[in-house]
Amino acid sequence: MMYDDARAAVAGGADPMETARRVVAGLDRDELLWCLDGDAPTWAGLKALTHQDIYHRVPFVAAELERVGFPGVRFADGPRGCVVANATAFPVPMARGATWDPELEVRVGEAIGTELRAVGADLTGAVCVNVLRHPAWGRAQETYGEDPHHVGELGAAVTRGLQRWVMACMKHFACNSMENARFSVDIEVDEVALHEVYLPHFKRIAEEGIASVMTAYNSVNGEWCGQSPALISDVLRGEWGFKGFTISDWIFGLRDGPTSVAAGLDIEMPYRMVRAQSVPAALEAGEVEQSAIEAAAARVIATRLRFDEVLGTPAPPLEVLGSPQHRALAQEVAARSVVLLRNEPVEGEPVLPLRPKQRVAVVGRLADRVNLGDGGSSDVWDLDCETIADGLRAAFDSVDHADGTDLDHAIQVAQAAEVVVVVVGYTAADEGEFIGATDPELSELFPSGDEPDVVARYEAYVESGPPATKPDRLADRPKGFSVGGDRTSLRLLPGDVALIQAVAAANPRTVVAIQAGSAVIVDEWIESVPALVQPWYGGCRAGSGLAQVLLGEVNPSARLPFSVPHHEDDLPAFDRDARTFTYDRWHGWWHLERTGRAPAYPFGYGLSYTKFAVTDSAVTNSATELTVIATLANTGHRDGADVVQVYAEIPTERSGEPAPPRLIGFQRIEVAAGDAASVTMEIPLARLARRDPRQHEWVLVSGTYRIHVARFAGDPNRKTHDITIEGADEG
Ligand code: BGC
Repeated sequence: MMYDDARAAVAGGADPMETARRVVAGLDRDELLWCLDGDAPTWAGLKALTHQDIYHRVPFVAAELERVGFPGVRFADGPRGCVVANATAFPVPMARGATWDPELEVRVGEAIGTELRAVGADLTGAVCVNVLRHPAWGRAQETYGEDPHHVGELGAAVTRGLQRWVMACMKHFACNSMENARFSVDIEVDEVALHEVYLPHFKRIAEEGIASVMTAYNSVNGEWCGQSPALISDVLRGEWGFKGFTISDWIFGLRDGPTSVAAGLDIEMPYRMVRAQSVPAALEAGEVEQSAIEAAAARVIATRLRFDEVLGTPAPPLEVLGSPQHRALAQEVAARSVVLLRNEPVEGEPVLPLRPKQRVAVVGRLADRVNLGDGGSSDVWDLDCETIADGLRAAFDSVDHADGTDLDHAIQVAQAAEVVVVVVGYTAADEGEFIGATDPELSELFPSGDEPDVVARYEAYVESGPPATKPDRLADRPKGFSVGGDRTSLRLLPGDVALIQAVAAANPRTVVAIQAGSAVIVDEWIESVPALVQPWYGGCRAGSGLAQVLLGEVNPSARLPFSVPHHEDDLPAFDRDARTFTYDRWHGWWHLERTGRAPAYPFGYGLSYTKFAVTDSAVTNSATELTVIATLANTGHRDGADVVQVYAEIPTERSGEPAPPRLIGFQRIEVAAGDAASVTMEIPLARLARRDPRQHEWVLVSGTYRIHVARFAGDPNRKTHDITIEGADEG
């Protein structure tokens, strides 16, 4: 069957999978094998990666079958915007996680999706949802936070938005929460920790109907994720009923072709590399089932058929890239993501908000630098990006700048100003994606050469991309991805600390702004400044967004998507060079609660220019859900928004081993000054279920569940309700 006939059949009501099987039945052996990997040749593809910035030129193509008219899939990253051509750079996902606003994230997804379609992509790796196990993770900025429920809701939201235009792919499945060792580390994780902490968000997004899943580089319990039957066949397809297709992570995503086919991985990305060398002979020798290859091809074709209506709409024109609407959205998100962490009075008045007429100094090596975050696969070549200083200059009458390299000059500028904003933090050189010295065994995965016809076809394709200009700011960046990696310290660089201290001594009205992808320990300097904000890597309108918050035009409503510890020792261990590592159930806010370490700033926390209180709450339950009703009062003098958060303590197992408490619901709500608003959340009881490793299934344990209605984890003013649930664990 030709692909167009398949489309017509599905449009007429035929089942996509059955129809896909009919397309597959008409494929010859070479066509079938062609579907198993990316369409690019390995060596020419690697050259294009390192010398031609291929990520930013064209989408990666896989499984295109010209004879039957199947377009295959065209993949482009990534989480902070479309990486092909010159698109809009949005604030990184961690910033968006701080908005706690899935509806806003749907809009971001939709905007990114539009831009992806305009450049010819139909599949995107923009849904990065590995939980932040430890703030040192180099790619922390690409995900939404440390908590599985929160990450799942944000990831589901971006998926909804993206899939109005393209197929989305969630990554990296699974347990990919460290960077430097990602190609070699084996994560040991028991069934309970895996299902309760490391997979719930993937499950949530699978249920949202995401088209595709990218496996992780690392191995889990001794098997590489790209060839893990336990993860791909048993959990993803078997238990969760996932109907889409799976792709490997790039280049080193699997080690053994036949094993990966048998495990249910559909496409090796992005080159004809591992499988092309081994699967044809294995098929010949009967070591790979033809039916497994057919099933892989059918899943890719069936998924595309399911998305035919979405992908059949005309692609938007290239003008949507960086459109005024998308830049306005980027600014809205930038402002909405700024977390206000400290705002102490100076001479009786909190330092923030500021007034436009105040004379401002903006200081620091990052103050007047476009700082979008990671320099790896998620890098967006936006040509129209503001620095923090640009945004402040546009918003205030008088702004002076010192880059901080000359401390005396910085002090002079600070003394002359009424208020100082010190911009500190990291860049792509300090945290981000990383390819360092890889294991020698990885180089054995490369083929001896490329197939000439595949090279010719690829080279012609590379020329077909949309226009893309490399931003000048990247001229001094080292070639390849070997930057960033896992952080070596959770503290600011010593130069930043010295600058903060010098400036704060020169001007008591000092506001510190941290650009970073996750938690930064602030203890050694925080008492010397009255105000602290975290504006992240805030995208193309980072400066204007921050200015709106500093001026109070936007009342800060962002809340931390992770906990900030006082000290490194308060966190679970992290070893960026580990070969094996154990992930257990304890990290994040629940680890701190368990060990009795008070965070410097708790998960879910953030200040506002007004005051909020949960004044009333009620929790009832039916056989299937909890209903939480809460009243949120704005007791201050400005309109604002806050996030009502519902946490649950789970009854102890019969073994007596404590179960981590959970965030089970949240809702952001706007409340006018002096007013109160009611929030209702219907929370499925399934969110309280435990994983039973004996039955390999979820059970709702009978007992008393303590439900907290709070404004952040560990909120001393939370309202607590004990709910007795008759579970299904006693039979
Ligand atoms: C990253 C993925 C990314 C892929 C393709 C890999 O290096 O781990 O997150 O989607 O490249 O760009």
